[in-house]
Amino acid sequence: MKEIRQIGILTGGGDCPGLNAVIRAISKTAINYGVEVIGFIDGFKGLVENRYMQLDLRTVSGISHTGGTILGTSNRDNPFQFFTISDGAPQHSDESDRAIANMEHLGLDGLVVIGGDGSLNIADRFSEKGVAIVGVPKTIDNDLSATDVTFGFNTAVNTASEALDRLHTTAESHHRVMVLEVMGRYAGWIALHAGISGGADVILIPEIPYNMDAVISKITQRYRQGKNFSIIVVAEGALPEHGEIVIRNLVATSHDPIRLGGIGQKVAEDIGNHLNNIEVRVTVLGHLQRGGSPIPYDRILSTRYGVAAMDAFMAGQFGTMVSLRGDMIAAVPIKEAIKEIRKVQPESEMVRAARAVGINFGDLY
Ligand code: F6P
Repeated sequence: MKEIRQIGILTGGGDCPGLNAVIRAISKTAINYGVEVIGFIDGFKGLVENRYMQLDLRTVSGISHTGGTILGTSNRDNPFQFFTISDGAPQHSDESDRAIANMEHLGLDGLVVIGGDGSLNIADRFSEKGVAIVGVPKTIDNDLSATDVTFGFNTAVNTASEALDRLHTTAESHHRVMVLEVMGRYAGWIALHAGISGGADVILIPEIPYNMDAVISKITQRYRQGKNFSIIVVAEGALPEHGEIVIRNLVATSHDPIRLGGIGQKVAEDIGNHLNNIEVRVTVLGHLQRGGSPIPYDRILSTRYGVAAMDAFMAGQFGTMVSLRGDMIAAVPIKEAIKEIRKVQPESEMVRAARAVGINFGDLY
């Protein structure tokens, strides 16, 4: 097997609590193996533009509890469809060979990509072009297949759950319906976990298209029981039966341009139109779910993922992603992880448990 002397790492896609703990764990493990590490700046953009920094013990010291990424990231840039402006005109071109030439010129023996499904799709294409790649599953959305959990997800759930605790007290004081819109793209994991943890009355997720009559009936039933407030968690990807997902905006320069958002407002307006004697308020939690310190669970998981990624690299397990199964960390093919988005199963034990404690999913179950 070829001797590994120097590797690159990058953080791609939206940032996520725990990125720095992964960077630290990879770098420290690499250094223990006698391998040098460089980090590309701003994700795949830095790889194409050859912008990087050396990662040594000093650079990665004391960062595992910090949010964001010391390397910077981007959820717009794909070397296979790289956005530039030439003579004033926007264009996309394939700069993957330029990225590979940069890695060769730097003498890199491969690349660790810390990212969600978008970044791991790009990583897989580099792997097909012969680059030695290992992936680390990152995303607050928890929507990657082939792993039980991505790092950052539990911190986002923690933030959303704390927001629900706060909304609860003000909802109760004012006898209001409070709607909280959370992130998660096309999967309802954050809404489901935070909703159960925060004692929501209704949870709306993309996997169970909702019926407004069911939501109204849950709220009015609570009023009849003397509970004159309700808490509703809405995943940004939730949609009504026979309706459409709500798109906040399109990022023209991005290879994945759709940004979701706005369904919380729509749900609040619909409730207000049906129950005009009840006040409804909406909170959009937004990027608070991505920022700030990782909770201890994510610091530990990120550390385990980082160490395992470097171990997989040294063992020559290229084209793989480290994954958590039960309590074991193993390397699985990246293709397994990206073949489809992992979604909430409507008949799963967790959804049944939520229903058992009275949570409604906007359906006439
Ligand atoms: O994938 C992470 C995520 O935070 C999604 O939950 C959300 O839909 C999206 O990124 C937001 O992207 P941006 O930071 O470009 O607004």
